[in-house]
Amino acid sequence: MIFDTHAHYDDEAFDRDREELLDSMKEQGVGRIVNACASIESLDRTRELMEKYPFLYGAIGIHPDDGEKVDERILEKIRLLSRHEKSVAIGEIGLDYYWHKEEKEHLLQQKIFRAQMDIAREEKLPFMIHSRDAAKDTLDIVREYVKAGMYGGIIHCFSYSKEIAREYLDMGLYLGIGGVVTFSNGKKLKEVVEYAPLSQLVLETDAPYLAPVPNRGKRNSSLNLPFVVQAIAEIKKIPPEEVEAVTWKNAAGLLHLPAAC
Ligand code: NI
Repeated sequence: MIFDTHAHYDDEAFDRDREELLDSMKEQGVGRIVNACASIESLDRTRELMEKYPFLYGAIGIHPDDGEKVDERILEKIRLLSRHEKSVAIGEIGLDYYWHKEEKEHLLQQKIFRAQMDIAREEKLPFMIHSRDAAKDTLDIVREYVKAGMYGGIIHCFSYSKEIAREYLDMGLYLGIGGVVTFSNGKKLKEVVEYAPLSQLVLETDAPYLAPVPNRGKRNSSLNLPFVVQAIAEIKKIPPEEVEAVTWKNAAGLLHLPAAC
């Protein structure tokens, strides 16, 4: 069975067939999914999804893109929803300097990122990080928090070098691997996958985004994960079944879910 640790099924891209698609997951080999909150609206939508589908869990948090909308009230909402029995992580949270170039935006993102890392620590939950064009600041903040004691975490859609990967792996964190590993221009990630131990990798889609080859550019869903499994298996020269089984075990362990489906 496949464990998709990061998808956005509350996205409007799934409005026309969400139920049909999610209902078909188990019979197609996808055993568990974590729906990652991004916007403020997705907090309620993620709650609805995790209450409706037994195999679907929630990562609770606000993406750095929506940083300026976060106030004390929203942080309190994140904290309360993180106590839901099906909330398994705080995310996706982090820094995005690709879309936000201004210094004052960076400072605001860092403040909101830290506030949510505080919630992860206080609620004893792992964190799920989004980081784009912000390698150093993300690493500095994560290192500071991990040093002071956290409950593990995933660097989602890992996009940096092997050297940065080593820093996170040394902290005992997991790297989220998705469609990019199948891209012809995904050389850097292929190197990271080759270097990182399988025991610190988890599968993810970021659906509806980042569909793997041969479906690149189309709407992504967890049903595409066998292409990612195959790519990892080829890089690591191991059977795809082993990639599936080990990444399942990694995700279940980190997110405190039973080993069996
Ligand atoms: Ni995402």
